[in-house]
Amino acid sequence: MIGWHEASRSFKIDTPHSSYVIALADEPAYAGHAYFGKRISDEDVSQLLRIAEPPYVPSRNARDKLSFLDTFPMEYPTHGVGDFRGSALKIRTKEGHSASELFYLRHEIVSGKPEAEGLPATFGDNASTLKLILWDEVCSLEVELRYSVFEDCDAVLRSARITNRGTRELFLEKALSASFDMDNEEFELLTLHGSWARERHMQRRRIGSGFQGVSSGRGETSHQHQPFLGLLSRDCTQERGEAYGLHLIYSGNFLGSVYGGQFDNLRISIGIDPEDFCWRLAPGESFLTPEAVLVYSDHGLGGMSRSFHDLYRRHLIRSVWKDRTRPVLINNWEATYFDFDEKKLLAIAEQAAKCGIEMLVMDDGWFGNRFDDNRALGDWKVNEEKIRGGLKKLTDGIGALGMRFGIWFEPEMVSPDSDLYREHPDWAIAVPGRKAGLCRNQYVLDLTRSEVRDHVFGLLTDILDSADIAYVKWDMNRQLADLGSLGLDPECQGELSHRYVLAVYELQERLIKRYPELLLENCSGGGARFDPGMLYYSPQIWCSDDTDAVERLMIQEGTALLYPLSVIGAHVSDCPNHTVGRVTPFETRGYVALAGTFGYELDITKISEEDRALIPKQVEMYHRYHGLFADGDYYRLASYSENRLYDAFLCASKDQREAVLVYVQVMMRPNHHSRVLKLAGLDPKRRYRLYRFVAETAEEVPFGADRAFYGDTLMNAGITIGGLWGDFKALLLHVKEEE
Ligand code: DGJ
Repeated sequence: MIGWHEASRSFKIDTPHSSYVIALADEPAYAGHAYFGKRISDEDVSQLLRIAEPPYVPSRNARDKLSFLDTFPMEYPTHGVGDFRGSALKIRTKEGHSASELFYLRHEIVSGKPEAEGLPATFGDNASTLKLILWDEVCSLEVELRYSVFEDCDAVLRSARITNRGTRELFLEKALSASFDMDNEEFELLTLHGSWARERHMQRRRIGSGFQGVSSGRGETSHQHQPFLGLLSRDCTQERGEAYGLHLIYSGNFLGSVYGGQFDNLRISIGIDPEDFCWRLAPGESFLTPEAVLVYSDHGLGGMSRSFHDLYRRHLIRSVWKDRTRPVLINNWEATYFDFDEKKLLAIAEQAAKCGIEMLVMDDGWFGNRFDDNRALGDWKVNEEKIRGGLKKLTDGIGALGMRFGIWFEPEMVSPDSDLYREHPDWAIAVPGRKAGLCRNQYVLDLTRSEVRDHVFGLLTDILDSADIAYVKWDMNRQLADLGSLGLDPECQGELSHRYVLAVYELQERLIKRYPELLLENCSGGGARFDPGMLYYSPQIWCSDDTDAVERLMIQEGTALLYPLSVIGAHVSDCPNHTVGRVTPFETRGYVALAGTFGYELDITKISEEDRALIPKQVEMYHRYHGLFADGDYYRLASYSENRLYDAFLCASKDQREAVLVYVQVMMRPNHHSRVLKLAGLDPKRRYRLYRFVAETAEEVPFGADRAFYGDTLMNAGITIGGLWGDFKALLLHVKEEE
């Protein structure tokens, strides 16, 4: 609900459990950030702006305007007039000046959400939006700050639409999506970091003075950082304490920053990284920033995660596959790498079909001269030396086994050793006169040019129309550098990074519009483009190239902090694990992959008879429990990344009638009796029984004391887990309300 309150000149934006208050101050009026936190009843909290306190409010004392601007809690700070804490907006005029100052002009409160203009964004019927329009008189610059809420979600969505209403060009050098100021109540900063095969590890630290935060200048969200900032009260734990989360619905360069100011205040901002950004705004033109999600929880990290999960499941993912059971797939990447032909794929599929696996995905290496990763990207024609008889014959063969077929593409790239590059060397992103750097021996195609996009799209659709293809894995294996586009004017070269992301969105939009039933999985060298932007196009994203069950515990914990489990690409792979060399039980690998989309990535014809025999049972397990993982409320019970011994999480159905719990004992401890695990997410007044899933038979057998317990007992006193012999042992428990 959103309201304008004339008397206090404030806007109060309520979600079911949080409030966000903007108040106008002084005349002409600045938009001040008064409050964001637990839901409150009063709309007038303008005392929090402290406008009465300092003696230097501009209308009353013009002597010290800079001091005012340097303390006032701004809703969208601008550059160059005296607020030195980092701006959300920086422009450059034709004359080269960069100052701007925004004052309240008017507002509108509307139902629904405005068009997202080629950007991914949340959507839904039960939304309302505040458009707060601010104005800079000198530059004739209009900034429309947008705030949307959905009735059923605890999140505020923010973006800014910037319009040049003047007669001269302007250049946007920085246009963030959201910014607000708060008092620093000794918050800690939570961010997600990593590397290839080690994505989204959680990092928590005290907030200090000055700038701190996360960014990516790689042209993609990156393995290294996630476009997310968490601000946590010092007592914030999994289910207690306060947590603020900011997340950007975007797949390119980003900046998330916290500035610790001189008066124990904080400025928190998120948006496109200004480092490689400069956008020409001709008279009459507008620029819309990506959407930022702001979440507040007074139920710790868990409350924050569940708000993000609900928002993304209900209002961001569009695919018809969103609520459908995804097929259990087998992908040949770790099984064969580039060394395969149609016979090998059919042999894998035959064995997989016998085990109940429902789809075969043919990964990298099926096209052009692609015998290794040094060549052929861009030549999207089937290599008939490998796939003898062609794609249709292969997919027919797979279909005859009762399986669906999926295929890998990396549409954004070109290898120097490819027919495409030989024909169009100028289609690669490069700075004229400077030799562009290679990465995995490939260049990035300049998708900002429509002829390049159309060419790539044509090749993709030729393949997709040629056979029965149900799934596409869209990969992207290098970052952007040497930024230069032959399609852009010299003064627009700074638009390339953002235009590139818009181009990827446009291509994926065309793809899913043309093939609405297609199951699209995004991927980027593992999880380098795991972001909410991609979720708008694909209901699942490959999480990491590290498929080791133990590494995945940490990667998936960080990922599930923000993303519902239904979107996390997770597969059971072979051991010793190809990335870390670890050997874990097949059973444990299954439970860990179950907290994601679930599939296999191994040569099923070569694994041991014993492991293979577990697959049909795991497929049964997936079909039995995946609904709880995909749609349930997620609770983390223990974190291996913190305790270095064991990991546990639970997903409870929304009606609290049942839950599924995965426990992994990463390291055995000698002379250690059983461990207490306190459950969560249950109804304290209902009685539940616990069952253990038996990997060999897919049966459920009573777990622990064969009797029912009240939810409050299970959540406060807990259950005991003991007797797991050895490292990497795991359990899957089904908690069911007693009939
Ligand atoms: C990176 C992906 O993450 C892998 O799963 C695989 O598809 C390779 N690329 C293929 O080159």
